[in-house]
Amino acid sequence: MTFEQWMRSVLDRVEGALEQYLPAESIEPAKLHEAMRYAVLGGGKRVRPLLCHAAGELTGAKAECLDAASAALEMIHVYSLVHDDMPCMDDDDLRRGKPTVHVKYDEATALLVGDALQSQAFVALTSDVFTPAQQAALVRELALASGSIGMAGGQAIDLASVGHTLTRPQLETMHRLKTGALLRAAVRMGALTGQLDNGGPDAKALQALDAYSAAVGLAFQVVDDILDVTTDSATLGKTAGKDAKDGKPTYVSIIGLDASRTLAAQLRSDAHDALAPFGARAQRLAELADLVVNRVS
Ligand code: IPE
Ligand code: IPE
Ligand code: MG
Ligand code: MG
Ligand code: MG
Repeated sequence: MTFEQWMRSVLDRVEGALEQYLPAESIEPAKLHEAMRYAVLGGGKRVRPLLCHAAGELTGAKAECLDAASAALEMIHVYSLVHDDMPCMDDDDLRRGKPTVHVKYDEATALLVGDALQSQAFVALTSDVFTPAQQAALVRELALASGSIGMAGGQAIDLASVGHTLTRPQLETMHRLKTGALLRAAVRMGALTGQLDNGGPDAKALQALDAYSAAVGLAFQVVDDILDVTTDSATLGKTAGKDAKDGKPTYVSIIGLDASRTLAAQLRSDAHDALAPFGARAQRLAELADLVVNRVS
């Protein structure tokens, strides 16, 4: 199977899982459910689900479990985007090529869409496709990655940094939290789903995967910062040039475009190196590291 064929099949599965784990529009409150589905379905690159599936395939996880974990990861990610776009945060009106949720609906709805998606993610993780041990482990991973020592914490640093310059270590910490934590969780959740079914976690494999996700997670936000200055809004599906306009410290503003590109290439190579213990079995993860760094949107 080529990488494109593999991606297509995972993306089809993930779309089905999101459809399954999101409440139907026919259920009251219909407007909230419509807005949740507007935010989640039919858009986005689905990078976290792809990482989850690739890591899970490496550890022999069941596909239906990876679908549920992927749906949970994507729901948390979309909640973070919906809130990130609100006027009290980045104040953006375009996301995934469509009006943002607070523009299409209103601010209160956007707030509730984020809240409800966060809760729904944990509903998906406690579905009966998982064993009780898997449920507990996955809930903990996702909660840690999305809370104050993960994504939400990174977003707090991001907002507090507007108009300031950060040192390189401070910038790296911010990026690792706001974006890296959830990407790392995607890899760990995929891997844990398989390992907990097959005799418990293999500490060495998890360590190698952590090194991989540290590199990919940071690379992802470095590339996001690069694309904000190099790509147009139509290609990105979100407003280009927004970071500089808002006075956000980014890799581009702190080390420049060329050094940011060099760093992304270095992180891609670090990600590949981390996968060495797995040999050819980690091909999909290696291809995903390339995708993260070479993407144009
Ligand atoms: C954008 O994430 C926000 C960041 C964490 C940098 P993605 O680039 O994964 O957005 P979608 O899911 O493809 O829309
Ligand atoms: C957002 O970072 C990270 C999260 C949503 C957690 P950005 O603010 O750079 O994301 P975009 O560029 O709006 O997608
Ligand atoms: Mg932001
Ligand atoms: Mg933003
Ligand atoms: Mg950005």
